[in-house]
Amino acid sequence: MSYKAAVITVSDSGFAGERADESGPLIRDMLVQGGYEVVLYRILPDERQELAACLGSLCDRHEADLVLTTGGTGFSPRDYTPEASLDIAERLVPGIPEAMRASSLQKTSRAMLSRSVAVIRKQTLIVNLPGSPRAAKENLEAILPALEHGLAILSGSARNCARPLDPA
Ligand code: MTE
Repeated sequence: MSYKAAVITVSDSGFAGERADESGPLIRDMLVQGGYEVVLYRILPDERQELAACLGSLCDRHEADLVLTTGGTGFSPRDYTPEASLDIAERLVPGIPEAMRASSLQKTSRAMLSRSVAVIRKQTLIVNLPGSPRAAKENLEAILPALEHGLAILSGSARNCARPLDPA
């Protein structure tokens, strides 16, 4: 089954056209390679309410099964991507950011500085990735193999978890 995915880059400078967005296209390519249909790619500024409204509408119209954001997860004064995601969340998925940080900590101790969250609203899963292309790639690699099963359960196309264990 091919799931619909949306990619949102959250960056003031990217939105203003002052910096080319590398992370969004990189994530889009990884998703396409993973068999996803990428239905939307947008750059938004670091505006909490605007981002929350965009995320909420994607979920409520069920335009995507999976929404990946990139950027705005750090400590900068305008980094509010996790809060915008929590504003519209119905359910929390702590295991996904736990896995991303656990895996990323093997590469850099700065992984602990990403405040990313994963949440569910209706039938859509939203996952925050950090902003740099390298960080986005490393974080997405850590979770991609498990995501599809979660999406299958979320969409109702799978009911149980009976399957062989992941090789690693
Ligand atoms: N995770 C991985 N795997 N690799 C990285 O290089 N960078 C970290 C962290 N997560 C990093 C990472 C850094 S330096 C920061 S500040 C945070 O992600 C937040 O990034 P953001 O503000 O661009 O979202």
